[in-house]
Amino acid sequence: MRRLFSKIGLIFILLSMLAHTATAKASKNRFEFEDVKLGAEHIAIFVNKDGTFSTAVADVNTKTGGRLETALEDADYKGKFGNKLHLFGLSPYKSIIVIGTGSDDLSVRKLRDLGGYVAQVSNNDYGISVIAEGLNTTVEQSAAQLAMGYALSSYKFEKYKEKKTGKNRTVSFLSDGFAASKALYENDLSHIITGVRFARDMGTEPGKSIYPESYAQGVRELFKGVANVKIEVMGVSQMKRHNMGALLGVGQGSIHDPRLVIVSYMGGAKDEAPIALAGKGITFDTGGISIKPNTGQWQMKSDLSGAAAVAGTLYATAMRGDKVNLVGVMAMAENMPSRDAIRPGDVLTTMSGKTIEVMSTDAEGRLVLADAVTYVQKEYDPRLLIDIATLTGSAARALGADYGVVITRDWDLAEDMMRIGKLAGEDVWPLPLNKNHFKAISSDIADIKSTAGSPGASIGAAVIGTFVDEDRVWVHLDIAGVDWVTKATPTTPKGHAGWGVRFLDAVVREHHAAP
Ligand code: BES
Ligand code: ZN
Ligand code: MG
Repeated sequence: MRRLFSKIGLIFILLSMLAHTATAKASKNRFEFEDVKLGAEHIAIFVNKDGTFSTAVADVNTKTGGRLETALEDADYKGKFGNKLHLFGLSPYKSIIVIGTGSDDLSVRKLRDLGGYVAQVSNNDYGISVIAEGLNTTVEQSAAQLAMGYALSSYKFEKYKEKKTGKNRTVSFLSDGFAASKALYENDLSHIITGVRFARDMGTEPGKSIYPESYAQGVRELFKGVANVKIEVMGVSQMKRHNMGALLGVGQGSIHDPRLVIVSYMGGAKDEAPIALAGKGITFDTGGISIKPNTGQWQMKSDLSGAAAVAGTLYATAMRGDKVNLVGVMAMAENMPSRDAIRPGDVLTTMSGKTIEVMSTDAEGRLVLADAVTYVQKEYDPRLLIDIATLTGSAARALGADYGVVITRDWDLAEDMMRIGKLAGEDVWPLPLNKNHFKAISSDIADIKSTAGSPGASIGAAVIGTFVDEDRVWVHLDIAGVDWVTKATPTTPKGHAGWGVRFLDAVVREHHAAP
């Protein structure tokens, strides 16, 4: 009987997920890339810090009979980067959005921010033409980057709202090289956007509807029809066969069984070792028997952010058809207290054979990742392994919301990650990992223990590092501080950030060829 009910429940949830896809599509803006023409009623323009106009904006000013220039002077508008102004009544235009670009050469990141600013100002009720010509940049197809920023900034999660505000509007980006911008957007950037949207959807969706199997189903749907992709969803019996005692242990207190979701995209040479991404996928983290305090507990619905970023990145890479082999493993479990749950003090035997003494059942991310990284190394022997997890409050306290924590065994690699993050628009900053952190997790009764006080982010990394081959090129990302945004940034509205898709996508692009 219980089984029947849970089947009906699953069907219900799958149906509601389908409905969700439809609404998400309905509230998406439609982007067009066109030649510069100045006839639209609602436009957005960019103005330099010194107030000079590009040729196209000068033409707009002429059309208004010079009143645009006067309005900017009267408003004492300086065109500092990100300065926003919304002007009305300058006929023949009904509205003009003005965004300042500052005076620096505009990077990809800044272009995306500018597109995000336009989205923040633009009214939801009508379409708009963004004049993307004449910007101070050496970035090619800059209109496509503006569009990406706009798309990321205008994300909305309205599934549970009676009144949806998102409208299906047309946003046109006008530039001379519009055909190339359209191609870049459609063949590349739009796939990253879909990946970010997926991650945000998964991180925002309540724990009631996202649990390991429904997450796996969401991944199957995301990749439906995508070429060269294989999806495996490992259930409890297979995990038992692989002796994944850590992932099984974390999942055993929940009525929803754990899953290991494996997505592989083999677009590269047959004999080339892949890049592997391993994501923490706790669909809800109550803390287990070491239960969390009430404050902010609801946010633990997004404790699968690492896994969601892995899926989003694989999607973008596969849709682009990159010549690279990439595999993602997502360790999915719900961390619940119950009579069946693991206890503090329990000892779990991992797939590697090493045992872990569980000091707090709230330090569950490192446990599920221990088995995930063991599995992916054994099965795929990756040339680069990146794990990504909302692992510790310690990471969030150390770096706040501006930087994800990056931990590596190799300083050059950490520097490389900082450089890539800066380009991608998702910054990371290093914290240390040394032999003291490994010493700290020695256990009296098992091979290691799962926690050892401060510094928490490094201790967490040491636990995962215990399961990563010493000579493996390995990057650990602790995103507990960045996965949730309380104040909107230009390209991320308040709410779940979908952090990591842009970062990991940039890493994968840079590491296409084996060194
Ligand atoms: N999911 C949490 C970490 C977290 C905290 C993510 C805040 C996002 C925001 C993780 O499972 C956890 O509970 N970590 C503990 C570890 C401790 C028991 C060693 C923590 O950081 O307090
Ligand atoms: Zn957690
Ligand atoms: Mg926890």
